[in-house]
Amino acid sequence: MSAEEPWTVGRLLKWTTDYLQQQQADSPRLDAELLLAQALGCKRIELYTRFDEVVAEEPRGKFRQLVKQRAAGMPVAYLLGRREFYSRDFRVTPDVLIPRPETEHLVIAALDRLRETAKTETARICDVGAGSGCIAITLAKDLPKLQVTAIDISAAALQVAQQNAEEHGVAEQIKFVKSDLLTALPENAVFDLIVSNPPYIGLVEKPSLPKDVLQYEPHVALFSGEDGLDAIRELVRQAPSHLKPGGWLLIEFGPVVAEAAVAIVTASDQFEAPTVEKDLAKLPRVLIARRKAT
Ligand SMILES: C[S@@+](CC[C@H](N)C(=O)[O-])C[C@H]1O[C@@H](n2cnc3c(N)ncnc32)[C@H](O)[C@@H]1O
Repeated sequence: MSAEEPWTVGRLLKWTTDYLQQQQADSPRLDAELLLAQALGCKRIELYTRFDEVVAEEPRGKFRQLVKQRAAGMPVAYLLGRREFYSRDFRVTPDVLIPRPETEHLVIAALDRLRETAKTETARICDVGAGSGCIAITLAKDLPKLQVTAIDISAAALQVAQQNAEEHGVAEQIKFVKSDLLTALPENAVFDLIVSNPPYIGLVEKPSLPKDVLQYEPHVALFSGEDGLDAIRELVRQAPSHLKPGGWLLIEFGPVVAEAAVAIVTASDQFEAPTVEKDLAKLPRVLIARRKAT
């Protein structure tokens, strides 16, 4: 960055937007604004009233570092340490998957089934593969009587989820358990609903994944065997003994594994015929299965 003109907020944004565009960033202007707001310790919206302000050397150095990392492919959410999900703000680190908007469909499907139960009695649910805790915490916030068990195989992810639960004031409602799917639960742990956004990408798909996902997001959160179905297969096998009769199993998945995942549930004699909900792009996104009543 040359020194002939002062580096104002406006000039830094323009320069950085052009630079990130050359580096093929998807949303260069938004990224530049978010990173400059982070370096200045202000809200993004405040940049618009500070356009002509000259940025001091210290925040400029901080900004330069952030832009360098972004240009190398580091996702903005990890650089900020935050991501919005279901209109709430969550802490994220490279130990957890960055929450995706598609997962809000899974939350809505769970809320639809829980609302009546949770109003009148204490419903119990289990979130398998909690990651940042975005699903467990959103459900606990919306249903204050809900009791949640949040499972993850990653101790580092559970720490992030615990911090998020504290920040959102729902730590009392959520028990965090390190477990490989449901295996560490006591036999008598029985839920009204099990919700999961498990890893569902096949190792065969690895070469076609975007570079920033592959390079920066935890592989334990992404991949599940050659065909992407290991976790779903095992969850469908384990879930019935931890679900009440008539209880729900809700799983997020993607279009590549959708047909095979539906076939797995259909082949189980423990569930009624499953249904599938689509996301805004009309892609199959949520698998809904109900444990048979008897
Ligand atoms: C796709 S991420 C979902 C994270 C979060 N629920 C979300 O929707 O953003 C999958 C999560 O499952 C966890 N996981 C992977 N294999 C697991 C297993 N066998 N048992 C429990 N958790 C597992 C990963 O550590 C990761 O946090």
